[in-house]
Amino acid sequence: MRKGKVIAVAGKGGTGKTAIAALLIRELLKSKGNENICVLAVDADADSNLPDSLGISYDKTVGDIREGLLEEKQQDTTLDIRTQFECKIAEIVVEEERYDLLVMGRPEGPGCYCPVNHIIRMIIDILTKNYDYTIIDCEAGLEHLSRRTTRDVDVMLVVLDTTLKSIKTALRLKKIAEEINIEVKNLINIANKIPSGIEKMIREEAKRYGLEIEEIIPFDPLIPEYDFKGIPIVDLPDDALSVAAVRRIAERIR
Ligand SMILES: Nc1ncnc2c1ncn2[C@@H]1O[C@H](COP(=O)(O)OP(=O)(O)OP(=O)(O)O)[C@@H](O)[C@H]1O
Ligand SMILES: [Mg+2]
Repeated sequence: MRKGKVIAVAGKGGTGKTAIAALLIRELLKSKGNENICVLAVDADADSNLPDSLGISYDKTVGDIREGLLEEKQQDTTLDIRTQFECKIAEIVVEEERYDLLVMGRPEGPGCYCPVNHIIRMIIDILTKNYDYTIIDCEAGLEHLSRRTTRDVDVMLVVLDTTLKSIKTALRLKKIAEEINIEVKNLINIANKIPSGIEKMIREEAKRYGLEIEEIIPFDPLIPEYDFKGIPIVDLPDDALSVAAVRRIAERIR
């Protein structure tokens, strides 16, 4: 059985997690030698934006079927839990030509015992093995990390921008990852939306706080333009500033 790589994109709200997750999926699929890979995209943000960035629509979320997903009384005793989980999830996975998408949706509502984080853990434990890559677009902040849902993530991309707040969130993510001993084998800090000419300053500023910035994605005027016009980010031209930078990251982690 395939043991896929799990990549989580985390960081402060609005730093560009979704845009980076979408472009990463695109660039992984486009990489030489990756012609036949299977990718699972997971939108783990309750305010689901990843489908728009990928230009696809979806019908149901995990939130919509969550009550039946883990309740033992509804389970078929002839099947093991793993198979039942896979069957239920398979019903709501959006199958695109080159990848699958799973939208977590909203965890709240009547009958909620907040299993969403538990389900993400199950996805990592069970589903990711069916794919070469799983890319998780995390909810803003620290929720997923602090609940150990990302304990077996292979690569954690921590996105920050030019705000001090985002540097602080990145530092907290790093600390939590260390504290709860998450097996994040590779934690990469990415500064996104960086205007040309201030790269060095951003690196130095982050370093003052003890944060090493490993990758920089430039401010790309096409991203807000596409967002505003409702054009999927994945349709950006190959030579767009942001695309070239994400391609470098895809090469690094693949
Ligand atoms: N490299 C970039 N250059 C210019 N604008 C960008 C870039 N990356 C993202 N943006 C813009 O920043 C905003 C936030 O991006 P995005 O939605 O991807 O962030 P997010 O971290 O997923 O936000 P949220 O926490 O709300 O999910 C969007 O308006 C997007 O157009
Ligand atoms: Mg987002």
